[in-house]
Amino acid sequence: MAAGLLALGTYAPSKVLHNKDLESFMDTSDEWITTRTGIRERRVSELNEYASDLAVKAVRDLVRRHGEQALEGVDQVVVATNTPDAFFPNTAALVANELGLKGAAGYDLLAGCPGWLYALAQAAGQVEAGVARKVLVIGSEVLTKIVDWRDRSSAVLFGDAAGAAVVGPVAEGHGFRSFVLGADGSGGGALHFAAIASSLPDGTRMGAAAYMNGREVFKFAVRVMDTATVEAIEKAGMHPDDISLFVPHQANERIIDAARERLGLEWDRVVMNLDRYGNTSTASIPLALQEALDAGKIKEGDHLLFVSFGAGLTWAATVLTWGGA
Ligand code: ACO
Repeated sequence: MAAGLLALGTYAPSKVLHNKDLESFMDTSDEWITTRTGIRERRVSELNEYASDLAVKAVRDLVRRHGEQALEGVDQVVVATNTPDAFFPNTAALVANELGLKGAAGYDLLAGCPGWLYALAQAAGQVEAGVARKVLVIGSEVLTKIVDWRDRSSAVLFGDAAGAAVVGPVAEGHGFRSFVLGADGSGGGALHFAAIASSLPDGTRMGAAAYMNGREVFKFAVRVMDTATVEAIEKAGMHPDDISLFVPHQANERIIDAARERLGLEWDRVVMNLDRYGNTSTASIPLALQEALDAGKIKEGDHLLFVSFGAGLTWAATVLTWGGA
């Protein structure tokens, strides 16, 4: 049995923080942020709005677009997030309860920005194996609550949002064609947020705000965006020319450009929306995918390529053939 995406929905908070707004309390400029990253503005959650709230709103958007029947048969809920409401209970259980999905299994998945792709891989495997009928796979983040606002090199990058998809059975020849997942903990110190104070092997204490070594992450990102996409395309038995649309993690325009060039894709086959949302981590690919769908850029049978990288350090890529529901 093949597994694919049956429905999608998204949510982004209405509060917008422009680059110009950052200039008022940080030593930065709209010009620096735009030219170095491509980001112009990002969304910010309310003080009392958490990952579970954004996740529920993304699922309500999915229901508005696809009807209540889209959730019929959902027996698992997975929330990929780096900013869960709490260590426990898990965010997915709270979301399932709020949505009335009584008895559905619920767990969170923490794997940096590729978390949503990791969760798709798990969901697809469980549907294909007959363990689950349908899995609600959500990416939800409130990163603006944990960034270190004194650190201009990382604070300007992130935004809040959520995306939700239903993974279920599709006709043969459609759905997920390959997955590439990887992690290298030796680079873990380049991007970390220690919720429980902990020490690095060299004795350095990790703080309670997110820390990022931007240059290290940049080099790593360019490398894995290249290797992971090439591997995912090969595993799917395809060639870069077969890819109709490239939907990369929205972290930095320069990182996306390097991957695009390596694959030989023109910009019209790449989805970009980081100018308006910044890096929303696990929500970034569903958010970009929904925009492409709304713009009529995706049709039945199209081969889509997703790729992401992030804290861990982790990476993931997948090729998905659209439709077949
Ligand atoms: N405004 C103005 N100046 C700045 C800012 C800012 N916001 N941030 C850094 N600078 C300065 C630096 O201090 C430095 O000044 P110096 O030359 O006087 O020392 C100069 O700009 C250049 O700094 P670099 O770090 O070399 O700038 P770079 O071009 O590498 O861009 C950036 C930095 C945007 C962070 C880039 O390295 C990057 O995008 N890295 C990847 C980050 C990423 O994608 N992280 C998400 C991971 S996903 C996840 O799991 C959360």
